[in-house]
Amino acid sequence: MAGELEGRVSIVTGGGSGMGRATSLLLAREGAAVTIADVNDEGGEQTAAQIEDLGGEALFVHTDVSSEQDVVNAVARTANRFGKLDSMVTAAGISYAKYVEGDDDTDPFLHPEAGASLNKPTEEWQKVIDVNLTGAMLCAREAARQMVNEGHGGTIVNFASILAYNPPPTLMDYCVSKVGVVMLTRCFAVEFGPHGIRVNAVAPGPIETPMLARVSRASGGSSQGGNLPLQRTAQPEEVAEVVLFFTSDRSSYVTGKTLGVDGGTNTI
Ligand SMILES: NC(=O)c1ccc[n+]([C@@H]2O[C@H](COP(=O)([O-])OP(=O)(O)OC[C@H]3O[C@@H](n4cnc5c(N)ncnc54)[C@H](O)[C@@H]3O)[C@@H](O)[C@H]2O)c1
Repeated sequence: MAGELEGRVSIVTGGGSGMGRATSLLLAREGAAVTIADVNDEGGEQTAAQIEDLGGEALFVHTDVSSEQDVVNAVARTANRFGKLDSMVTAAGISYAKYVEGDDDTDPFLHPEAGASLNKPTEEWQKVIDVNLTGAMLCAREAARQMVNEGHGGTIVNFASILAYNPPPTLMDYCVSKVGVVMLTRCFAVEFGPHGIRVNAVAPGPIETPMLARVSRASGGSSQGGNLPLQRTAQPEEVAEVVLFFTSDRSSYVTGKTLGVDGGTNTI
């Protein structure tokens, strides 16, 4: 497809839902061939089908981002299918350990006591760190290895969160993982810059995805965005636009930055 990313190849983790899906569709509309890497087979295949319906090229690869073997496989299959790799977007994430399973008993929004650090089993902390932080590291590193071998540079865009800076009382593991993503972004920007690889991150505020829907369900549907300067939540497409900026040549002199896409959080 013709567009700003014509001829480019991207991988989007977490592309089976929410902001990962919106990003996959936008990158494809701008001409990129997109691999969707997700544990959610149904959602991932749906996103791939939506891209093909638009006339784009897509591949779904079942991938657990916390598994190094899965991540290596996703990058290798992308390079085999599309011939190269230009960009990696690490949108896969969980807000609590059993998020993918949809386990209500350990949902910290429904049961704040389950999210309290004093009660939380260590393996639940480990799971969140494994997916959100180690997963982003594995994906970014494997993408960079591929890009360095190909010798043409590239871009990596990570997903942090405003909660990296503003911790609520029951999401300690999530907040620590996301502030880790902020520093990972800076570290890899420093390391990979000499190879022409730019590394940036978005830090979304309350975005209307299945992840936020769980928060809204617990709070009786009350809006999360009312106290922000822009006084609203946002759509996943509004974050995808910023990911496109970091992925495209429009941000050619920007690296190591985490940009809040957050309705003005902390401005007042
Ligand atoms: N929605 C928000 O308000 C919000 C705010 C700030 C940051 N974020 C972050 O943005 C990113 C996207 O979140 P979203 O709101 O679109 O959520 P979402 O639940 O709609 O999508 C997350 C996707 O990640 C996938 N995933 C989960 N664990 C995985 C794993 N181990 N391997 C591969 N895929 C996995 C899920 O299957 C799902 O498709 C996440 O990193 C999240 O932490 C979300």
